[in-house]
Amino acid sequence: MSVFTEETRERAREIIARYPADRSRSALLPLLHLVQSEEGYVSPAGVEFCAEVLGLNKAQVGAVATFYTMYKRKPTGDYLVSVCTNTMCNVLGGQEVYDTLAEHLGVGHDETTADGKITLEHAECLAACDYGPVMTVNYDFFDNVDPQGALGVVEELRAGGRPMPTRGARLCTLKEMAVQLAGFADERDGAVADGGPGEPTLRGLRLAEQHGISVPGFDPNTPIRSKAEADKAAAEAKAKAEAAKPAPAPEPAKPAAATGSTAPDVKAPDSKSPQVRTAETRQPDAGTAVADAPGTKVPTDSTAPAPRDAQAAESAGVAANPPAGDGKPAGDEAGAQQRNLKEAEAGAGANGAGPAVASETGVQK
Ligand code: FES
Repeated sequence: MSVFTEETRERAREIIARYPADRSRSALLPLLHLVQSEEGYVSPAGVEFCAEVLGLNKAQVGAVATFYTMYKRKPTGDYLVSVCTNTMCNVLGGQEVYDTLAEHLGVGHDETTADGKITLEHAECLAACDYGPVMTVNYDFFDNVDPQGALGVVEELRAGGRPMPTRGARLCTLKEMAVQLAGFADERDGAVADGGPGEPTLRGLRLAEQHGISVPGFDPNTPIRSKAEADKAAAEAKAKAEAAKPAPAPEPAKPAAATGSTAPDVKAPDSKSPQVRTAETRQPDAGTAVADAPGTKVPTDSTAPAPRDAQAAESAGVAANPPAGDGKPAGDEAGAQQRNLKEAEAGAGANGAGPAVASETGVQK
């Protein structure tokens, strides 16, 4: 029986529906968060689920899942404690915070306490350098943290509490956070921060003002527009630019026909076909032309044009080299996700397959 609930499958359909039918593979990142919300990590079964519903093969899903550190490849604790040990935080005491937690919890980087509550990791810049040293718990921030403060947070978590981070709502579990990262809103009060930038963030601006330093032509009082206002202003500017455009000049006469061609000249289109562009890029000095390209000369001698050879060889190579892995289709064929989802559900129910064995890289075989 599949490890994924009907609710997760319904959410998968919702995620995929956010993207155009021929771009459904773009749903892979939120889908990986979704399967992580079910099991606490991206398991081999999770990789298979994503591959099935998106019409990808497992190697393709595995390649993405192993690239990003937010996708965990082994069971992770309820609370992922990340301590920044990068340059800014480090000089402010980040390493001391990390070392204190590691010693207290008895775990190292990417290891989980025996009670399954806490996974510790050191992180390379959590993008809050102005509040360093920082640590996050399930990606919620604790600013200006010190060793004692960090110990207090993890002890409260181990005792079943849910401390308040510096910003946002009370801490949630990693699985609950993964649902949010998959694109489903956290409805709790205060879950969405709406405050302005804090004083540490504005410190550079204040110093610049104090010392009369400014960027030429920039008015610091420029209002920050909403997206709707910005879109409207951009549309108006575009319309104004279009109206001010001069009428197009007449096209210059075409040069005489190239050697080896007897075909009449054809007016070139505004945009060339991708094949023509590829051939021209690869062999800009070629004296021959591409036969099926409007606006070019068709050779009449028996010599095969080099750019066409390159295209043919490339096509043959593509045809002879299907996607690596388990041979599942790699494209975004229209309707594939719905069909695959149904097949995955039917298959899971019929054969009761359990999670497959993971390889060293975590990609399911
Ligand atoms: S160096 Fe720690 S948040 Fe940037």
